[in-house]
Amino acid sequence: MAKIFSSSLGGSLFKDERFLYQEFVPERLPFRDEEISELVFCLKPASEGKRPTNVFVFGKPGTGKTVSLKFVLSELEEFSDRAKCLYINCFEYSSKQSIISKITNFLGYAVPSRGISYAELFSKFVAVLRTKKVLPVIVFDEAEQLLKSEETKSLLYDLARLPEQQKLSIGLAFISNDNFFLSQIDDRIRSSLQCSSIPFESYSPSELKEILRERAKYAFNEFALDEDVVPLCAAHAAKLGGDARIAIDVLLKAGRLASREGAKKVLVKHVRASFTQEKPVKVEVTSNLSEQERSILDLLKKKKSQDSGAIYDTLKDKFAERTLRAALAELEEKKLIVSEKEIKGRGFTRIVKLAGS
Ligand SMILES: Nc1ncnc2c1ncn2[C@@H]1O[C@H](COP(=O)(O)OP(=O)(O)O)[C@@H](O)[C@H]1O
Ligand SMILES: [Mg+2]
Repeated sequence: MAKIFSSSLGGSLFKDERFLYQEFVPERLPFRDEEISELVFCLKPASEGKRPTNVFVFGKPGTGKTVSLKFVLSELEEFSDRAKCLYINCFEYSSKQSIISKITNFLGYAVPSRGISYAELFSKFVAVLRTKKVLPVIVFDEAEQLLKSEETKSLLYDLARLPEQQKLSIGLAFISNDNFFLSQIDDRIRSSLQCSSIPFESYSPSELKEILRERAKYAFNEFALDEDVVPLCAAHAAKLGGDARIAIDVLLKAGRLASREGAKKVLVKHVRASFTQEKPVKVEVTSNLSEQERSILDLLKKKKSQDSGAIYDTLKDKFAERTLRAALAELEEKKLIVSEKEIKGRGFTRIVKLAGS
């Protein structure tokens, strides 16, 4: 048998690369103490079976929203038998049926996968919840997906009204890259939810460095990293908007490249080579763009940087400002552009650039 895998395993650089995986939840999250204590404050009543304050967590990609909530949830479950926490990614669970089935299953009642209407499912869920002594805390990650259809919006409405209509307690947390998630919800749902908003700011280059050092301590052996490696990964991620995910990912890729070469240390050249590895992904993303997203990119290729007002103005004959604003948000999420807030006159404007330019 060809041993094609046996030679690529070795290397003494990594202690355990799994500490650099996206889904790994570290025990320490530098620079998120305040956000975490705010989350604890809001959710703590659940540990005594009381109704927690619902929360809305928002900020740009890679600011530690998901990992902070996962961390808080696991601590909450460990601390108390009363709270039972469920994490739902709304990209994965995108219909109200699938979401309510997931929650009902989680409460310990196996719902049939077919032939049952939403209304039946929901009343089953209410009945099951009534028999339980637990207080469910449910996190909806990528929550803006819930606003894409009327049917998922109505699920939000149903959940928001549980306390009032059914005298049942439940804790809800919403995570979104879209700062305006709450303001897009109908007034009546928003007022039933009474969410506490917790902003997550982008990391600065020096914060990214420390985050990387902390993760690297567990992932790599001592002396495995050249001293310029972490600063370069941090600078790269800072340039792309302060995204810790990019920083960690680049470090993982650089480590793998260095291991493959049999290098004694991860060097700056490995980091640089891992930047170019990102490119194919971008090509794939670009082929899925909407017409308005493409127009914005074309404009930025010519102009380098533009303020958002000028973009709306240039493209106003083709697209409405609302459409363009949504397209800018999409492009930023896809990491194809970066934007910065600047003071202009009495208000703010956004300066938009192509990512990496
Ligand atoms: N303060 C931090 N310390 C350590 N790792 C972090 C920190 N913030 C974010 N990360 C890591 O960066 C990556 C992106 O974080 P994540 O929570 O998924 O971001 P978001 O949900 O805001 O897009 C994850 O791998 C996460 O573990
Ligand atoms: Mg996230």
